[in-house]
Amino acid sequence: MNNGYLETTKNIYKDAAENPQVGLCCTTTPIWQLPDLQIPTRMLEMNYGCGSTVNPRDLVNNPKILYVGVGGGMELLQFAYFNRQNAGVIGVDVVDEMLEASRKNFLAAESLNPWFNSRFIDMRTGDALHLPVDDNSIDVAAQNCLFNIFKEDDLKQALKEMYRVLKPHGRLVLSDPTCETKMPESLKQDERLRALCLSGALPLNDYVKMITDIGFGTIEIRAKRPYRILDPKHYDTKELIFIESVEVCAIKDPMPSDGPCVFTGKTAIYYGDNEYFDDNNGHVLMPNQPLSVCDKTAGNLSALNRDDIFISESTYFYDGGGCC
Ligand SMILES: C[S@@+](CC[C@H](N)C(=O)[O-])C[C@H]1O[C@@H](n2cnc3c(N)ncnc32)[C@H](O)[C@@H]1O
Repeated sequence: MNNGYLETTKNIYKDAAENPQVGLCCTTTPIWQLPDLQIPTRMLEMNYGCGSTVNPRDLVNNPKILYVGVGGGMELLQFAYFNRQNAGVIGVDVVDEMLEASRKNFLAAESLNPWFNSRFIDMRTGDALHLPVDDNSIDVAAQNCLFNIFKEDDLKQALKEMYRVLKPHGRLVLSDPTCETKMPESLKQDERLRALCLSGALPLNDYVKMITDIGFGTIEIRAKRPYRILDPKHYDTKELIFIESVEVCAIKDPMPSDGPCVFTGKTAIYYGDNEYFDDNNGHVLMPNQPLSVCDKTAGNLSALNRDDIFISESTYFYDGGGCC
């Protein structure tokens, strides 16, 4: 297999470490504004992500956190904001210049944030495909805008690595571009566009299947937003290609015997005359009260063909609660 694209990727991010490129990735996601959190300017300029992987709901009970593909270190700082323990957050990157740039950014962050100490972050040189991290040692693992760059076999390997290092029920939070239009082969093979997170995007269902095939039993689609357009004037495409960015949480829950629970923001509402509706499969619907359901349960309820259960469409904005 030709792995030249991985080398091209490293070179592009070596350059992006030395010469910050505002807007290299980036989306409409607002930067977290939190009390007493000041993000250094250079760190902001090196925000090479396409969403957010930092969610306070994941961060209760002092989790051990791993962040792969550090960029300028902004999300590591945000994770440290919630964690505040020595070596509470491990940062891994394959590009030494990027690790060096984020170390400098952490020193700048120390002078702006009295609560912060660079020791909160344990920086390690390493590859997403061979993580320098012990098995079953991490509660929350995250990557932002790196995995979309990987071709299928490498993506599988990167996901396997995340699964290996997570504790049971640990969470993998991902943010990546996805695309429902078939990406022309010439763009997919363009190493530079791939490295810039523009042409490796998979359709959302394929992306989720890659994750569940590794064994993650629960998936939450937390957000989906417009990201980029590849148009025929500027790119080798006959049609307009609309790229979105998604935020996904994959939980290392055991795989249910009937397949993974994928929450895309569907809701079931019972509007019949009984006190409640019980599907005898763990889901009790109270009259006119929405219950978040995974797509599998939504399908099972729809298949009952009842005239007193409404199933809403996917909102791709799922933020907790639910049926499983
Ligand atoms: C698109 S940037 C995203 C940076 C950061 N996550 C953010 O949101 O700003 C990709 C990052 O992954 C790093 N990287 C590239 N290939 C890698 C690999 N094989 N293993 C680990 N990190 C890698 C790059 O050096 C860069 O820091």
